[in-house]
Amino acid sequence: MKPCDCQQEERRSFITGLVRWAAALTGAALIHPLLKFSGYTVKPKPRYVKVAAPLPRSGVHAEREFFLFASSDRQQAWAVSRTCTHLGCRVNFLEDKQLIECPCHQSRFTPQGARLAGPAQKNLPVFKVEVQKDETSTVTGYVVEI
Ligand code: FES
Repeated sequence: MKPCDCQQEERRSFITGLVRWAAALTGAALIHPLLKFSGYTVKPKPRYVKVAAPLPRSGVHAEREFFLFASSDRQQAWAVSRTCTHLGCRVNFLEDKQLIECPCHQSRFTPQGARLAGPAQKNLPVFKVEVQKDETSTVTGYVVEI
């Protein structure tokens, strides 16, 4: 008759459980970077910023995160991000030159956000704008979707 080796059995069972838990934790830790590598991202919820009409005479309204531009008749509008696509500085609008310029490394963009010059390689992001009108088609405000 073989003697009971209960202590060794318990130790083996404990180590097996420990290895399984370590494998599960390692797998869980690898899923996030793998999903990120594969391009899977969760889109953040959009934010809506309302700008009341009328805009200044220049047709440009500056917020912390965007410039809101309107056509001369104020019926059409577009918004351009103020975050430079080079290293993220906040860009300025030069009204006399009708240019957007980054103060950090002088990247330049058109008021529509298209890159003109500088170390930035991408255009500025453009945000959707809803022009709000009353029943007489008078513009009452602008809603920018960030
Ligand atoms: S951060 Fe704007 S040009 Fe470098």
